[in-house]
Amino acid sequence: MDGIDTLRGKYLSAIAGAADEAALEEVRVAALGKKGEISALMATLGRMEPEARKAAGASLNALKDEIDAALRARKTALADAALDERLKAEWLDVTLPGRPRRTGTIHPVSRVMEELTAIFADMGFSVAEGPQVESDWYNFDALNIPPEHPARQEHDTFFMHRAPGDNRAPHVLRTHTSPVQIRALMERGAPLRVIAPGRVYRMDMDQTHTPMFHQVEGLAIDRDISMANLKWCLEEFCRAFFEVDKVELRFRASHFPFTEPSAEVDIRYSNVGGQLRIGEGDKWMEILGSGMVHPKVLQAAGVDPTQWQGFAFGMGIDRIAMLKYGIPDLRAFFESDLRWLRHYGFSPLDVPDLAGGLST
Ligand code: PHE
Repeated sequence: MDGIDTLRGKYLSAIAGAADEAALEEVRVAALGKKGEISALMATLGRMEPEARKAAGASLNALKDEIDAALRARKTALADAALDERLKAEWLDVTLPGRPRRTGTIHPVSRVMEELTAIFADMGFSVAEGPQVESDWYNFDALNIPPEHPARQEHDTFFMHRAPGDNRAPHVLRTHTSPVQIRALMERGAPLRVIAPGRVYRMDMDQTHTPMFHQVEGLAIDRDISMANLKWCLEEFCRAFFEVDKVELRFRASHFPFTEPSAEVDIRYSNVGGQLRIGEGDKWMEILGSGMVHPKVLQAAGVDPTQWQGFAFGMGIDRIAMLKYGIPDLRAFFESDLRWLRHYGFSPLDVPDLAGGLST
């Protein structure tokens, strides 16, 4: 059959020239379809002499296989090319910067928590946590505040409900982060160095008080930790946090049931036309309570007070945020006013770390 070579040439070049899958299908139908040219030739085999049929059948089958293979190869090539086209058309530069106007901001309180965590981590403190709904044992008893103690009234506590008939002491919204001292000591034992930032709650509301606010507890327990270590630690923290050489702290003798001796610490600032400035002026803002951990507190947490001692402090995070970033009214912190958030918020991409300089 000398038509075979002509057919081969004709169809192979048609396949190579098919521009898309539809054109390719037309070639397939013309060659191998039910009424295709090669199928028609196959149908003539039956009328041939056996010898001739054998030879013609073999070469027709070979031709059919060859065209079939060429069709499939061309189909794959066309699909690959189509995918390449799509990938090129739908290309996206993922390294383009985001659209700044549409991104949210990091709240000053979150920002300050990140900053102070970085500073205390550098001093060897790890972060501990406790629940905001706390049992009255952790919030009061374990901290040497028994049921009739007047300090319980001073805390303006929010109480949770108990089911009617359940006469156990109600849970409370924790009034300070100090219960985390107990939890951390019970979990990890002594020696220990932790901070515990978080939300606390008291019934109170004016320009410098909101019913929910933030504290960071600090606790350092070892064999020979003293008040001097506390003073150094706090001064060092303030210098690093406020990023000014001149920070003036005032330690005032005070009283807390869970520390002995106790001190409250104020920081010098000025307020000129609503602008707060640190380290100058004649105003003092109380930023924390502190002292040497009371032996009864260590005992309640299962730590032997004849072997271990240390300091604790509880610092107002919102207060130090107001001072550092010159924000005059605390209530605005929690009003979710977008204009305020845009003005005082921080870029989510700007993560504070000590090596880079806290707020550069
Ligand atoms: N828990 C105290 C408060 O909220 C602060 C404090 C913490 C004082 C640790 C001494 C030691 O006022």
